[in-house]
Amino acid sequence: MKKRIGILTSGGDCAGLNAVMRSVVYRSHLLGLEVIGIENGVSGLLDSPYAVRTLSMSDFDGFILRRGGTILGTTNSKDPFAYEMPNGEIKDRSEEIMAAFKDLGIDAFIGIGGDGSFAILSRLAEQGGLNFVGVPKTIDNDVNLTSACVGFDTALTVATEALDRLQPTAASHDRVMILEVMGRDAGHIALSAGIAGGADVILIPEIPYSIENIARKLKEVKKAGRNFALIVVSEAVKSPDGEKREVVYHGGETRYGGIGEFLGPKIAELSGFETRVTVLGHVQRGGQPTYKDRLLAQAFGVKAVDLINDGKFGRMVAWQDRQVVDVSIKEAIKECRVVNSESTLLHTARSLGISFGD
Ligand code: F6P
Repeated sequence: MKKRIGILTSGGDCAGLNAVMRSVVYRSHLLGLEVIGIENGVSGLLDSPYAVRTLSMSDFDGFILRRGGTILGTTNSKDPFAYEMPNGEIKDRSEEIMAAFKDLGIDAFIGIGGDGSFAILSRLAEQGGLNFVGVPKTIDNDVNLTSACVGFDTALTVATEALDRLQPTAASHDRVMILEVMGRDAGHIALSAGIAGGADVILIPEIPYSIENIARKLKEVKKAGRNFALIVVSEAVKSPDGEKREVVYHGGETRYGGIGEFLGPKIAELSGFETRVTVLGHVQRGGQPTYKDRLLAQAFGVKAVDLINDGKFGRMVAWQDRQVVDVSIKEAIKECRVVNSESTLLHTARSLGISFGD
C-alpha cells in the first residue's frame, strides 16, 4: 500500500500556496507517495461526502505554479474546537475531523498555514494521534523560528509598487500620501516596504508614536525643499491614546482597519500638508507569486515531504541562514515574530532618517 499524505491550506490565503502543493505532489510522486487534497482547511473533512480529491502531477500542469490563491480553498474563521453551526450554536467538531483522517487512511498530513492554523492543527494532531508537518505561509511574516514565510515577498512587492505609484502623484500635488498596509500585529510589511519605497515615516505596531512627531518630520521635509512625503502605516497601529482601529464585518467578525483614515486629517492639521489615504488591503494577498516566493514554496514543499518520508512529525519547515531546516512546531507557535528592537532593518531605516513617529 502506498503511504498517503493529506494536504490542506488553512488561514488567510497568499501567493505561493499552489507552488507549495505542486512541489509536494512532484516530490511525493518521486518517492511513491499518494497525495490527497482536503478542501477549505479541515472543514472539507466535515462535509458529507468528504471534500477531498487525489492530487496528481497533471493537476499542476501549466499555469498553477504561477497562480495566486489556493486551488483547495481555505478559511480563517472556522475553528473545529469551537465550530459555528448554521443555527449559531458553537460545537466541538474536532473528533469528527480526527476520525475522518483515519477513515481516509491518511498516514500524515501537511498543513500550509500561519501560527493560528498551526495551533489548531497541532492540537488536532496531538489529541487525535495524527502525524503532522507544517509549512509556514502568511503575508504577515510573523511565524516564529523562520525568517521567511510563503507569501510575504509577494505582498512586499505589491506594497513597494504601491509606494512607487504614490510618489509621482504625491509630488505632482504637493501632498503627503499615507499607505495603510496589512501585517496584523507585526510591522514587517510596513518596515520593509517603507525602506524599499523611500518612505519618510513608517508606523508599526511595535513602536509607540505621536502625531506631533510625525508632523515635525514632515515640516523638516518641507524645510529641506521637498513638497511631498510618503507615510506607511501598518494596520494594527493604534491611535495615539491606545485605541485599536477595527472594522466590524457582517456577523460581528472584526479585522484591523481604519488607522490611515484616522491619521490623515490629524496629520494634515498639524503639518500643513494636504493628505490622502490609500488602503492596500487584500491586493497584497492575491496575484502571481514572485520568484522568491516560488523558490521558498518549493523548497518548503520538498522538505515537508522528506520529513514525512523519514517519519519526522510535529515539525515545521523553516528558512534559516539561507537553508531549509525543520523546527519544533510547538516552539514555533509559542509566540509571534514581531519587529524587534535589534532588527537590522529598523537600524537601517533609522540610519536613513526615516521617522517612526517616536
Ligand atoms: O493574516 C493575513 C491577513 O491578511 C492580515 O494581514 C489581515 O489582518 C487579515 O489577514 C485579514 O483577514 P481577512 O482576509 O479575513 O479579511
